[in-house]
Amino acid sequence: MVKPLIAANWKMYKTIGEAVSFAREMVGQAGSMDDREIVLAPSFASLSAVAEACRGSTIRVAAQNMHWEERGACTGEVSPLMLLDAGCAFVIIGHSERRRLFGERDKGINLKIQAALKHRLNPIFCLGESLEERESGRTFDVVEKQLERGLNDISSHDIRAVTVAYEPVWAIGTGKTATPAQAGEVHAFIRKWLAGRYGESAASSVRIIYGGSVNEKNVEELMATPGIQGALVGGASLEVRSFLGIVRFGNNG
Ligand code: PGA
Repeated sequence: MVKPLIAANWKMYKTIGEAVSFAREMVGQAGSMDDREIVLAPSFASLSAVAEACRGSTIRVAAQNMHWEERGACTGEVSPLMLLDAGCAFVIIGHSERRRLFGERDKGINLKIQAALKHRLNPIFCLGESLEERESGRTFDVVEKQLERGLNDISSHDIRAVTVAYEPVWAIGTGKTATPAQAGEVHAFIRKWLAGRYGESAASSVRIIYGGSVNEKNVEELMATPGIQGALVGGASLEVRSFLGIVRFGNNG
């Protein structure tokens, strides 16, 4: 059984002090949960301080991006070695904001996933369609292309360390969540694609999570949907109370 993963994507929010005090509170409240994996993704600036605050707990730390090279003349970039050094276990790759605002393309995303796997960082590979693509009936085509290109040259051994995050772009930060039926059918499509490429056994160990306006209210329904194995949470992860409400799905009643 794959453990569900709930990740907080703090984007460009929280100073180091704010991030550390959130992490300490999470450690106090949920730092020994082991039936689910809790991940905090602060900005680069806060990574090592948050990792330090989470030490000794079950909470893990993710970066929101990285470069694929280990070192080099790449002003402003951060390498996999630096993330490991800072205490990261995960790295978010290909988030739609990176694709939209910073011109990230499938090829570079693929290089980043390969580099993460080489360095034993667990990639959280984000993909999903825009509103226009959904409305023109191209959701599955778009998702398939992102899978094909993003996972190019990833072996059936390495794929097991990958988490795929289905994040429909129209649901991110908009308060519009995909219905469980909409998310469920794309998750099933991703699972089927993975099984076709890697075989049933490898595909079944890849975690597929949902992101896009997840909150305390809709988390139960989403997590009860077959095929949804976790959540990547933006807005609702910024307050301890609401993130805890999400992390504790299944125990809130
Ligand atoms: P949101 O963001 O929960 O605010 O929609 C999700 C994400 O960007 O990963």
